[in-house]
Order: sequence, then C-alpha cells, then structure tokens
Amino acid sequence: MTRHLTVVDHPLVQHKLTLMREKETPTAVFRQLLREISQLLAYEVTRELPMTTKRIETPLTEMDAPVLDGKKLALISILRAGNGLLDGVLELIPSARVGFVGLYRDEKTLQPVEYYFKVPAELGDRMVIAVDPMLATGNSSAAAIDKLKEAGAVNIRFLCLLAAPEGVARMKEAHPDVPIVTAALDERLNEVGYIMPGLGDAGDRMFGTK
Ligand code: URA
Repeated sequence: MTRHLTVVDHPLVQHKLTLMREKETPTAVFRQLLREISQLLAYEVTRELPMTTKRIETPLTEMDAPVLDGKKLALISILRAGNGLLDGVLELIPSARVGFVGLYRDEKTLQPVEYYFKVPAELGDRMVIAVDPMLATGNSSAAAIDKLKEAGAVNIRFLCLLAAPEGVARMKEAHPDVPIVTAALDERLNEVGYIMPGLGDAGDRMFGTK
C-alpha cells in the first residue's frame, strides 16, 4: 500500500530546493532548478507504473526485458504554476499525454471555480499525475482532483514541490486514495495562505511576474 505522503528526502532534491527558496535566485535559475527537481520527483511518483516484459535480442543473446505496460500515463498541470513542473516531467516521459485544469478562487465565496479543463481520453485506464508546485490550503488541489475523478480518473497521484500540513490534511480528508509526492513538508501557512518558510509565489518566481 502506497503511503499518503512521500517526502523525497534526497540530497540533490534538498540542495536544489534550498537554492530555489533563496529570494535572490533569479528567474532563469529558478526555472532550471524546478525542471531538474521535477525530474527527480518524477522518478519517485512513477515508481508504481505497471510493467511487463518483451522478448528482445541483445548483441549476445535473447532475454525477456522489462518495459512499461498499459496506456500512456496522463500528466495534468494545474494552471498556471503546474506548467513549471510539467515541463521537466515531460522531458523524462516524453510520450505522456497531457491535460490542463484551470481554477481560480472566487473572491466572495473563496471557493475554486473552473475556467479551463482539457484532459486526455480514457483517463480511467491511465495512471494520472496531477502537478502543482505548491500544496498550500489544498482547496484548489482537492477541487482539481474532484474534476479529474468526474472525468473518469481512478488511479491518481499528486506531485508538488512544497506542501503545507494544512494542504496535506485537506487532501487526505477529500482524497485519501491519492498519494502525494513532495520535496518538502514545510511548517505552516501564514495568514494570507503562503507556505512558510516556503519560497514565495511559485508562479511569479518561475515566470518573472509580480
Ligand atoms: N502558492 C504559492 O505560489 N506559494 C505559496 O506559498 C502558497 C501558494
């Protein structure tokens, strides 16, 4: 049984994350580090991809060699910051199918509202990996997973860079069947919903916006 939360406590991941947290790290470096970390995290989140074997010939002999089985996995970017994680994971798994979920927070109700939803066909037959760098309150992540389940997804994982305990708890309550893989579990959310100590606004830092 997969754990609900996996923190990838690997020296390379932790070193790169520290560089990303530093406020003076320029946009281009931040983006490159995110790309590199996302590939290391992808290694962990795809650990349970189904395998089969195929008969091959090496220069010396024949063998039954392991290959991935089943339908191509689906990577779902939760807009807009998800795109930063998506790029790196796609480099590692170029044949993955890709979808996008766009949500914004209604200022009055504070509830997530969908403005874009486009996902690959036959979602129910694929491993689905939803990517969003910051698992903060967990409200938009849980809502995005709701939409993916409504679209037929049954085998879902959530990949993020940083998680707050509040977000992990929210996801566990809403989607206990969705394992979370992250580079770090930070201390808490501040009063305006930022992860502490965190790295600031991930979208702004990766795109150079304010
Ligand atoms: N989203 C971010 O980009 N940063 C946070 O700290 C929380 C949510």
